[in-house]
Amino acid sequence: MKGLFITLEGGDGAGKSTQIRNIERFFRRKGLVVVHTREPGGTPISEKLRNILLDNENSEMDPVTEMMIYAASRAQNVREKILPAIERGDIVICDRFVDSSVAYQAYGRQLGDMVEEVNRHATGGLVPDITFWMDIDPEAGKARAAKAGDLDRLELEKMDFHYRVYEGYRRIAEKDPDRVKRIDAADTVDNIRDHIYECLEELCRSKGI
Ligand code: TMP
Repeated sequence: MKGLFITLEGGDGAGKSTQIRNIERFFRRKGLVVVHTREPGGTPISEKLRNILLDNENSEMDPVTEMMIYAASRAQNVREKILPAIERGDIVICDRFVDSSVAYQAYGRQLGDMVEEVNRHATGGLVPDITFWMDIDPEAGKARAAKAGDLDRLELEKMDFHYRVYEGYRRIAEKDPDRVKRIDAADTVDNIRDHIYECLEELCRSKGI
């Protein structure tokens, strides 16, 4: 049996980490092995690329350079970590994936269709079985992220950038409703968990897990 590939998406400060822990718990209770990864990052090489991407000193980074480093980090993560785990039958939970590049680089940086094209090569066509979009208002998300600690290079972008990212996520969810589940990130932590668990039960039923 092949494993599952689950991704979480959303603007900064959407509360992804808490729900990732809940998703891990859901599958461990079923006796399945859970592999956790994140983007940018997830492997030693990809984590080095992450440091370049989020470094506040790299304010001169060109948007095309940025998009390609995100894709490079992903190519390594897919081949070194994600695909081998899925082949073993494990459950892979990835904090952000291609949808982040579409939202932040195609919409936020306004790079358009080039982003999906480059990412097709980066992923070799791998698409998540299910994606949870933690939908949070950009102002509220930025405030939560600021409260949690220092803001990174992307988080420091102006509000109009974050509104374009939001519009990107909205369109991704509209285009692919079977895969992308919208989760109201303003709801209580317990309600969010229950909603996510309902979606996961349905996914497991459809895959015979
Ligand atoms: P994180 O703070 O959720 O770990 O994500 C790091 C930042 O990188 C976050 O602001 C979103 C951004 N990002 C992109 O711009 N494009 C991408 O493809 C990914 C994965 C993240």
